[in-house]
Amino acid sequence: MNNKIIHFIFFSPTGTTRTTLEAIAKGTGCTTGSTVNLTLEAPSDSPEFSEADLVLVGMPVYGGRLPALAAKRFKSIAGNGAAVVPVVVYGNRHYDDCLVELYDLCKEQGFHPVAAGAFLGEHSFSTAALPLSVGRPDAADLEKAEAFGRNITEEELRVERVPGNRPYKERMQPAGSATSVDAATCIQCGKCIEVCPTQGMHMTETAAESHPDNCIWCMACERICPVHARTLTHEKVMVSARKLSEFFSERREPETFLA
Ligand SMILES: Cc1cc2nc3c(=O)[nH]c(=O)nc-3n(C[C@H](O)[C@H](O)[C@H](O)COP(=O)(O)O)c2cc1C
Repeated sequence: MNNKIIHFIFFSPTGTTRTTLEAIAKGTGCTTGSTVNLTLEAPSDSPEFSEADLVLVGMPVYGGRLPALAAKRFKSIAGNGAAVVPVVVYGNRHYDDCLVELYDLCKEQGFHPVAAGAFLGEHSFSTAALPLSVGRPDAADLEKAEAFGRNITEEELRVERVPGNRPYKERMQPAGSATSVDAATCIQCGKCIEVCPTQGMHMTETAAESHPDNCIWCMACERICPVHARTLTHEKVMVSARKLSEFFSERREPETFLA
């Protein structure tokens, strides 16, 4: 389908969703149009899409659902009949109801789904001590993403082809906790404050602090910190990371759904 202009819409705190969409776009051979990055904010001025466009919409899986903030920001965009490819990226556990949720949301916003995909990314909770889905998307994932892009057509993808349940599973709630900082290590560069999707961090006299009421556990601040001053050691996260490492380490592969 290389006769369209291709556009990107994504929420991607640690970058794996964005990388996956770029590989899919490469495969389509379409001319690149606009990028709407929902990671930091809803667009103040959304592009006017039309039936001449192909839009790749990518979001990470949080607890088998879309991140609430990402879904909310996406609702400010109108599809106007543009072809869309909903894509979710997850950390090797499962995507549960997230892909069908994104498919439904795209339809609600006036897009026309023509394909969908569930791809793999390094798990946001991955650490040196508890590595989870490390290095993904890797070369093999990106090759699959590109091949998927080559196969997209204009035909409608019916929802019956997309795995997931309705009603969707209940959304997970970050348990009123946030990343913490080692003030002795923090160099107060402020990079973490800039990348926080909730704009929920601030600088104190000694270090950049995140706030438990805002934090969505996306780990953007931890990944960008040049001196590794930030960690998320909340018991719920540690239990989940240990479980993932024990029961979900077998490599899963991308799944794609075409009309
Ligand atoms: C709060 C939270 C919940 C997550 N829930 C899941 C999940 O249910 N299943 C899964 O396989 N991965 C899960 N992940 C991992 C992310 O989906 C994965 O790391 C993804 O690649 C992150 O995308 P990004 O790099 O675009 O931010 C979760 C990550 C976070 C931060």
